[in-house]
Amino acid sequence: MPIKGTDYIEMYVGNALQAAHYYQSVFGFQSLAYAGLSTGLKDRESYVLEQGVIRLVLTSPLSSGTEIGRHIDKHGDGVKVIALWVEDATKAFNTAVARGAKAYLEPTLEEDEDDGEVVRSGIHIYGDTVHIFVERNDYSGTFLPGFQDWETSFRPEPVGLKFVDHMVGNVELGQMSYWVDFYEKVMGFTQILSFDDKDISTEYTALMSKVMSNGNGRIKFPINEPAKGKKKSQIEEYLDFYEGPGVQHIALATNDIIHTVSALRERGLEFLTVPASYYDVLIDRVGNIDEKVDALRDLAILVDRDDEGYLLQIFSKPVQSRPTVFFEIIQRKGAKSFGKGNFQALFEAIEREQAIRGTL
Ligand code: FE2
Repeated sequence: MPIKGTDYIEMYVGNALQAAHYYQSVFGFQSLAYAGLSTGLKDRESYVLEQGVIRLVLTSPLSSGTEIGRHIDKHGDGVKVIALWVEDATKAFNTAVARGAKAYLEPTLEEDEDDGEVVRSGIHIYGDTVHIFVERNDYSGTFLPGFQDWETSFRPEPVGLKFVDHMVGNVELGQMSYWVDFYEKVMGFTQILSFDDKDISTEYTALMSKVMSNGNGRIKFPINEPAKGKKKSQIEEYLDFYEGPGVQHIALATNDIIHTVSALRERGLEFLTVPASYYDVLIDRVGNIDEKVDALRDLAILVDRDDEGYLLQIFSKPVQSRPTVFFEIIQRKGAKSFGKGNFQALFEAIEREQAIRGTL
């Protein structure tokens, strides 16, 4: 199943107007498109934001008793749609459904008078999350038919985010293999990496993870499940508060992580931190790197190396009231992996946060 890339990510949130302002002012996303009362929608409104090739859609209901409202009531703010850009949304849908996917949206043609047409279709994945296939071969509009350009003078400087590097799903204990099979059989993905509880564990908690990727490598979906530990794992905490499986984190790529993380910190995004001792042994662990260790220490940016190069990464704290969805900022310098060497330090950082929340 050929997939060209991530098309957009849609989050269902309690207050899309205010969430949009947060992603503009903190993350430097730019206003792109809008749909709501003024475009003829009666039941919801959506703000579309853009940075690099990342498109984020924030949607809220305008009345009670809606599917979107029920999603928010159950899960809190969270990712509903991982939209994938395809050549042929009808074929993608038919193929996926024939291979066992559950239909979410039958192939639907949408058009604008001047801008051409888009075909979208969709399938269910873990929990209440869905993939929408987007075919926009003949479309010249800003985002999708039905959206108007979102004109605003509020344009905070972008922080240098370029594209979606990967998106991670948390599923229940025992379900990881099912979703690995799903991505293999239904989507034609291959497993590129696997971590077990020996790789990712502390004294208290553990998780297992397998990374699925599409043919061109642009789509990477690690799938986590909790593993048995002495105390509640971070995955179980997520599943408890999200009330089921869902997207755990969205990793956004930058070409200059020091600049990006400095800007995000200045604007108030909070990150997990690791003990200063992490940096005392950093060069021994990863070898020479281009960046100054002091700068990395000041910003709490983590580094890991694999056979092909190294990567720099950092994880935000959850970005809504429930301890569920968070962001990763990542810069790859050759490395194609996910920072296994940082798991120990990160797990301990997450457990400190869990202890504060009383959910360890
Ligand atoms: Fe990640």
